[in-house]
Amino acid sequence: MTDTTQHADDAAKTDDRPPRLTRLTFHGPLSEARAAKMVARLAGTRPATVLDIGCGWGELLLRVLTAVPGARGTGIDLNGEDLARGRRNAEARGLADRVEFAEESGVGTRRGPADLVLCLGAGQALSTAEAPAHTAKALRELRRLVADDGRVLFGEGFWERTPTPAELSGIWPDASADEYHSLAGLLDLAVAAGFRPEWTETANADEWEEFESGYQADTEVWLARHPDHPLAAETRDRLDRHRTQWMGYRNLLGIAYLTLVPTS
Ligand SMILES: C[S@@+](CC[C@H](N)C(=O)[O-])C[C@H]1O[C@@H](n2cnc3c(N)ncnc32)[C@H](O)[C@@H]1O
Repeated sequence: MTDTTQHADDAAKTDDRPPRLTRLTFHGPLSEARAAKMVARLAGTRPATVLDIGCGWGELLLRVLTAVPGARGTGIDLNGEDLARGRRNAEARGLADRVEFAEESGVGTRRGPADLVLCLGAGQALSTAEAPAHTAKALRELRRLVADDGRVLFGEGFWERTPTPAELSGIWPDASADEYHSLAGLLDLAVAAGFRPEWTETANADEWEEFESGYQADTEVWLARHPDHPLAAETRDRLDRHRTQWMGYRNLLGIAYLTLVPTS
């Protein structure tokens, strides 16, 4: 048994494990105002079917289904805990009979084609390709998965400017400049994959701060209250590591939300 497993077992006995992502509405830098505009724009195309790749708890998927009566949705993800949260939310909003949350990989998925395909912060769920090829591969997969008269909403990272070697060394291990494209490069890839960009938007600084704070907030408060807990040391390491990474990619890593129309 590893130390981590032992600590997890000890925590299970005391039933006071650190919380996870409870302060987030979306698992990415996305404000209520932007989400509402996106949902209105996408619902306006009257999709009958919606497929969410790497859906997590599928908040945007549920909002689209609420806005389009009769539409049916499928969210796929590998994280059973997040999928269960999605199912609970669907039940609470009266959507349970119109949505399926399935625990499966998006790589080579046989789902689709759907009228609307969502893929937010989850391009990695569509292929096993390494950077930088993974983004082009994800876009080709999205073109395969969307109906010819449908829409794709693709949320993907991009460099706000070319990172310097010093900046790269300050973020995650093995970070490289070709891990992401520029926004212009990302749009070019989308066009090359068989789309035209209907709408291009990027997360702003407030959305990033709201997301990054919400990403850690519940766990930070837990740690402050449980300094002697068996999981405190590894939790502190994880929080400190992520905070350092965020300070490294703050104002450097962007997230683009591209609403894409397939070309014939
Ligand atoms: C940053 S989260 C985004 C979740 C959600 N799209 C949202 O915006 O709230 C990325 C998600 O991709 C999922 N994921 C990663 N690899 C995957 C794969 N091969 N198949 C399905 N989902 C995957 C993760 O489990 C995670 O939930």
